[in-house]
Amino acid sequence: MIRVLISGQPEDWDDFGDLLPAALLDAGIEAEFIQERMPRSPETIDYIVYAPWSDMKDFSPFKGAKAVLNLWAGVENVVTNETLTAPLARMVDPGLTAGMVEWCVAHTLRHHLGIDRDICRRDADWDPCVPLLAHERPLTILGLGVLGRAVGGALSGLGFPVTGWSRSGKDVPGMTCLSGENGLVEALRTAELLILLLPLTPATEELMNSERFALLPKGAILINPGRGPLIDDDALLAALDTGHIAHATLDVFREEPLPSDHPFWAHPGVTVTPHIASATRPETAVGVIVENIRRGEAGEPLLHLVDRRSGY
Ligand code: GLV
Repeated sequence: MIRVLISGQPEDWDDFGDLLPAALLDAGIEAEFIQERMPRSPETIDYIVYAPWSDMKDFSPFKGAKAVLNLWAGVENVVTNETLTAPLARMVDPGLTAGMVEWCVAHTLRHHLGIDRDICRRDADWDPCVPLLAHERPLTILGLGVLGRAVGGALSGLGFPVTGWSRSGKDVPGMTCLSGENGLVEALRTAELLILLLPLTPATEELMNSERFALLPKGAILINPGRGPLIDDDALLAALDTGHIAHATLDVFREEPLPSDHPFWAHPGVTVTPHIASATRPETAVGVIVENIRRGEAGEPLLHLVDRRSGY
């Protein structure tokens, strides 16, 4: 019998409480589930399922933990925690990936087709503006992890010429892949629409600053479902005010919820969505958690391990 600590809020257990025990049993693993903030005998906990909104900050009592299984794709809230010495796995959930693809495709098409213009059209406003075709609109994705690759694949499938940039070079069919500083310059110069799907690390914080915004073609669109601090907010507002960036659709922010007096709320060139671009879906995520616990018990390498030095 293994002991699994669910470290989050009571709602997390509402989401996973029915699914996880049954899925573990199906995999032939009997488990006791613990939800207390500080359980008895913490050294006997085998796995910690960790929600980034958990208030657990000290992992040192969990001396026997075989892994910490993060419920989010992003690990920036936990990766620098020095009390955490057990292996850390991030969430790679097919449901989360599917949601991200749908959201990015929808918001890309909104801007590409000029859907707002048509929705807001009034009776006598007969001003036909036939949209470009996808193959005429080059776009760039920064970040070629699971999410960036899936979004890029869907958009290139629709015909968009997609350039993908990542810190370490990647090779993704259907996309022009670039890396390094020169690659970033090239990726930004051609980006009529830019999607940010990078992990947040010291190397990516404020990657999109005023110099890099200036590299984008005039009238570019920015879509950020990655992390708020990838952007220098003031530099973005300045680029929106000059019209260099025509519109920014932002799902994530330096501070969440986005404070009510933040200029993004009122700016006509900004669409704010409340960190809903995608989310872990318990129905599909549970399989990922169970597979990692199965691997941990069988002594096999865990999936989606975080490299603590690179921070993702
Ligand atoms: C959500 O933001 C996630 O990191 O999964």
